[in-house]
Amino acid sequence: MDISGTLWSCVVISCIYSVTAEWYDTFTGNQITEARLAALRLNNLIPWCAIEVKNCSLDEPRRLDNSCNNIHRPSLGTIMTPYHHILPPDFPTNGGLRTAKSGRALPNARALRVALVPDGRIPNKNFTHLLTNMIVFVTADSTTVHDTANYVALTTTCCMPGGELDPRCMPIRVPDDDVHLRRSNVRCLNLTRSITYQRLGCTPETLPPERINLNTPMLDLAQVYGSETAKAMNFRERWGGRLKAEKLKGKDWPPGNGRVCFQNNLNETRCHALAESLVNSLLSVNMAFLWFMRQHNNLAERLAKVNPCWDDDKLYMVSRDINIATWQQIMYYDLMPNIVDYKYLLKNGVIFPDHGHVDDYDPSLEPLVSIDYTVASRWFHSLQEGRLNLYDNQGKILRQVAAVETTLHTGMLPLNNTLEGLTQGSFRQPCTSTDKAMDPDVSM
Ligand SMILES: *[C@@H]1O[C@H](CO)[C@@H](O)[C@H](O)[C@H]1NC(C)=O
Ligand SMILES: *[C@@H]1O[C@H](CO)[C@@H](O)[C@H](O)[C@H]1NC(C)=O
Ligand SMILES: *[C@@H]1O[C@H](CO)[C@@H](O)[C@H](O)[C@H]1NC(C)=O
Ligand SMILES: *[C@@H]1O[C@H](CO)[C@@H](O)[C@H](O)[C@H]1NC(C)=O
Ligand SMILES: *[C@@H]1O[C@H](CO)[C@@H](O)[C@H](O)[C@H]1NC(C)=O
Repeated sequence: MDISGTLWSCVVISCIYSVTAEWYDTFTGNQITEARLAALRLNNLIPWCAIEVKNCSLDEPRRLDNSCNNIHRPSLGTIMTPYHHILPPDFPTNGGLRTAKSGRALPNARALRVALVPDGRIPNKNFTHLLTNMIVFVTADSTTVHDTANYVALTTTCCMPGGELDPRCMPIRVPDDDVHLRRSNVRCLNLTRSITYQRLGCTPETLPPERINLNTPMLDLAQVYGSETAKAMNFRERWGGRLKAEKLKGKDWPPGNGRVCFQNNLNETRCHALAESLVNSLLSVNMAFLWFMRQHNNLAERLAKVNPCWDDDKLYMVSRDINIATWQQIMYYDLMPNIVDYKYLLKNGVIFPDHGHVDDYDPSLEPLVSIDYTVASRWFHSLQEGRLNLYDNQGKILRQVAAVETTLHTGMLPLNNTLEGLTQGSFRQPCTSTDKAMDPDVSM
């Protein structure tokens, strides 16, 4: 009796185990126990600290959240995963700012910015604005802006009295002789600390802080398709493999009943409902979204003509695969060799000299964006032109808008052929030079 009771509880435990086997720790990528899962649920830490991965199947298409990319460690490369470090992190254990080797405080960040980055506008002789747009879009595809959204919109008290003592804050003091702000009364810039696994309570406070990436780290057009299967379904037509669209003057636009638009003017009524709502943000992200979304529907329509037996899912998946492959081709083969040495890219296996199929999959590699990239890529701001020209399709300049007046203005794009004019501009107008000078509208 006793023995069979014990056996029975073993069966029950292994049963529970096989179900909990679908939950993984977002930081380590390891499976978690039922007890840990229950504790995380209790503290509202799902999906931050743990992610559910439905059983992988060897012949399924690429998942939206990228789980099962690695069949043995199925949560690697999905959302909420960490960043890679080229060098090990070096933070003081007291939670303060890192000091110089001598132990003294490092120079003030604002003083460095003003000393190192002059304002200026020098056109680039080699590249058009398409380069800027694609660099912004690749960053949006593989990293996350929640830390920026945090200090811009959510935690805005860091410059209020006592802000520097708030553990969420890291305000930047503005020196009195600041060349740009000395005549203003701004002596503090709002900044919040990055959201880390440690602060969320996913990992012990004793570990060095590690930032969390809410986005999938792969180049997978997550901005177009979303990274959650159930949510993404709401943005599909559910016929013809298409993404949901409404026609304006014969062209596809996503549903216009979105709510997350921050700065539309009164006449700018359009706001997009999207699988990834932060697409209603920077102009480059908004525009590249529309280009790739329309290309998806174009592909689906053409595939349906030649494959009349394919159902909605098949058309959707194949169009998505081709769209992602095109995006990767643009990034790795067209863009990168123009800004990074071609031989260097070959030598490091980023690209290959031959066309055609390459299988360099290495299960021991973890798909992560390096944290150093998210910092270094800020230097690309020096390419950004603050005044955008709109052109007709013959290359005639129609008008000019300030880039700052386009950001967070999704509703501007369908008015007065703005999207068309800016799209023409992206491959007709030079971006600015790759020196350190920053357009005055981009710097502050
Ligand atoms: C996943 O696989 C386990 C073990 O093979 C099985 O017990 C479980 O029911 C599966 N879950 C789903 C959702 O298919
Ligand atoms: C343009 O490209 C040439 C040749 O690669 C290079 O020497 C030059 O520095 C580039 N100019 C700019 C402004 O990037
Ligand atoms: C900081 O945020 C507050 C609240 O949004 C705002 O009033 C203030 O102007 C901001 N300070 C700076 C320097 O941007
Ligand atoms: C929309 O409103 C803004 C400011 O209110 C104005 O500058 C712009 O010309 C208007 N655009 C159109 C297309 O009416
Ligand atoms: C619309 O664009 C034309 C140039 O193509 C410009 O002359 C006109 O002022 C614009 N209208 C508005 C309301 O912005």
